[in-house]
Amino acid sequence: MNQWPTQQHALDYLARADRIPHRTEGEAELLRQVPTTVRRILDLGTGDGRLLSLLKIDRPDAKSVALDFSPTMLEAVRDRFAQDATVQVLDHNLDDPLPDLGTFDAIVSSFAIHHVTHERKRSLYQEIFEKLDSGGVFCNLEHVASPTPELHRRFLSIIGYSPETEDPSNQLLDVEAQLQWLRSIGFQQVDCYWKWLEMALLIGIKP
Ligand SMILES: C[S@@+](CC[C@H](N)C(=O)[O-])C[C@H]1O[C@@H](n2cnc3c(N)ncnc32)[C@H](O)[C@@H]1O
Repeated sequence: MNQWPTQQHALDYLARADRIPHRTEGEAELLRQVPTTVRRILDLGTGDGRLLSLLKIDRPDAKSVALDFSPTMLEAVRDRFAQDATVQVLDHNLDDPLPDLGTFDAIVSSFAIHHVTHERKRSLYQEIFEKLDSGGVFCNLEHVASPTPELHRRFLSIIGYSPETEDPSNQLLDVEAQLQWLRSIGFQQVDCYWKWLEMALLIGIKP
């Protein structure tokens, strides 16, 4: 039921992306956790490259790979970085194993990984670990599950949705399970560094 390859779904998101409450707080914390000295960044589910462009403000020389599978998003991110040779745009479906891209000292993602199955989330986290250099950071600003259906309904209502209208592409998972996975894979300093209701910033460092 992943609707992101459809143009309308992608355009609807881009039209409201700036109005998602509190997201800039999560983005600001993510920016604080990625060293300004990073040399290679991978952005999973980059969309129109919003997060990469924020990262590049203080890391203009970092080389980046912006990965997505939506034709609309790929066009938007190619447009955004048309004049920036440091950004490589890659058409790839996160359901499939990550291609050989070399290693990175930061792998980031923003509201994307919750569109793959829980089983794939776990295997993707393992692949991310393998693609990080020692000392590299994984930052996942993510839409996570509420602990109860009532809290889920309240969150949806605050952001202007209902269980009937929420994105059918969502496959939400709670914070605790994901932090536990990151720890068991071998990430260190694993924690939820920021959270507002169903929006959470999950981070781990590769030793
Ligand atoms: C909510 S948008 C977030 C976009 C961007 N990261 C941002 O923060 O604005 C989710 C993004 O994940 C991408 N996505 C969803 N499922 C994907 C998959 N299986 N493979 C690759 N990208 C996917 C969508 O195309 C979309 O660009």
